[in-house]
Amino acid sequence: MDAITPQPRPCWIAGRPEQGARQLTVRHPYDGTEVATVAVPGPEQVERAVASAASVAREFRSSPAHLRAAALEHVSRSLHARAEEVAETITAENGKPLKWAMGEVTRAVATFRIAAEEARRFTGDLQRLDTDPAADGRLAVVRRVPRGPVLGIAPFNFPLNLVAHKVAPALAVGAPIIVKPAPRTPLSALLLGELLAETELPDGAFSVLPVDNDETGRLVRDERLPVVSFTGSGPVGWSLMDAAPRKHVVLELGGNAAAVVCADWTDLDFAAKRIALYGNYQGGQSCIAVQRVLVDAAVAEEFVPKLLDAVLALRTGNPHDPDVEVGPLVDEAAAKRVEEWVAEATSAGAKLLAGGGRDGATVEPTVLADVPSDAKVWTEEVFGPVLALSVVDGVEEALAQVNDSQFGLQAGVFTRDVRVAFRAAAELEVGGVIIGDVPSYRADQMPYGGVKGSGFGREGVRSAMADFTEERVMVLTGIEL
Ligand code: SIN
Repeated sequence: MDAITPQPRPCWIAGRPEQGARQLTVRHPYDGTEVATVAVPGPEQVERAVASAASVAREFRSSPAHLRAAALEHVSRSLHARAEEVAETITAENGKPLKWAMGEVTRAVATFRIAAEEARRFTGDLQRLDTDPAADGRLAVVRRVPRGPVLGIAPFNFPLNLVAHKVAPALAVGAPIIVKPAPRTPLSALLLGELLAETELPDGAFSVLPVDNDETGRLVRDERLPVVSFTGSGPVGWSLMDAAPRKHVVLELGGNAAAVVCADWTDLDFAAKRIALYGNYQGGQSCIAVQRVLVDAAVAEEFVPKLLDAVLALRTGNPHDPDVEVGPLVDEAAAKRVEEWVAEATSAGAKLLAGGGRDGATVEPTVLADVPSDAKVWTEEVFGPVLALSVVDGVEEALAQVNDSQFGLQAGVFTRDVRVAFRAAAELEVGGVIIGDVPSYRADQMPYGGVKGSGFGREGVRSAMADFTEERVMVLTGIEL
């Protein structure tokens, strides 16, 4: 009897499951085993997805808020109900340890729930115009309407929640969305497609297209998709921008986030544990993973051994083991690159205080000190489990070092001094400053995004809803105010 070969996971074309023109194999980053195959749509299917998004845009933007909110609530509830299965999927495709995958599912549940709440609130403003004599009796009704269908291009490091941050706000405002997941991690996005297909959203409101880079380039240039929301690397992001100068482009790019430990911070155990954990969570593959650690000379002697203890206590290994904190990077090539960057720093004089080893795609949690200021582990985004330590003399020098970066996503400042907190928030060239914790803190409703080389535009459900829409004003005349 012939063995039955399972069909590739379907892609989603205008809300319906379809097999593709070819297939893609997803492999587990930890051991390279095959996890699933995925249907890759061909040009005709991609065209149908885009044409449907364009043709449903008008109807969808006028759809009642309760319909959109109900769809978003359904996704939130279903993710919650299927949390373990979804977390297993994330771990299998991305390699992040199960506990972090579970955390990502919890966040995606919240992202969709928040979007449902915001969809119900999203109304607009009244603005009185009779502030000057020429406008007596005039009133402006200011509403936000979708700019048009959104192309959401997602990265591999949060294959569910960073897709959610594009899908949920788009659907909340009534903008059709075409999702292009990362080629290594399409499974969570396809699973979202399955949940969205169970709702009353109109055909064409969403498609999930695990296409390659050439096809993505065509989508980026397609005028029927006036909004491009991209999360990923700087070079790719800026090239998309150049390819579509007239589009509304949102770029969430990389960072080399800094955590500052000030002289006034007394709970050094807490700071050390948080920095160790969030320099290494999901193998350091987060744009806001701690990379640079700036510790005040007044507390450095006490802090550094605590940091090393906390780093050495982190368990690496099989990401399906519930006790493992640090799993593999997304592939061996990424791990080799991190290893090379560490070697480049040590041969230029950096001291290796912990780690430095590699086993396949897994890199040991690594701590470096005295890193030359032009070493890649200091100037670039490592996207690996590497902390680079610098001892600074006071707040002034710490803030200057944070700002001495091409990036500006988030920074963490361990201080209890409210004046230092406000000074950091005012002076740091970043999108967000986290006081009393690591830069890696993110709540899904808060504005999230960068300045300088970290991109522009903001995620966080309400901020993304603003980004995906534009103001339209209607002026009423002869109104008694
Ligand atoms: C990112 O890597 O940019 C996302 C971080 C997060 O959502 O926690």
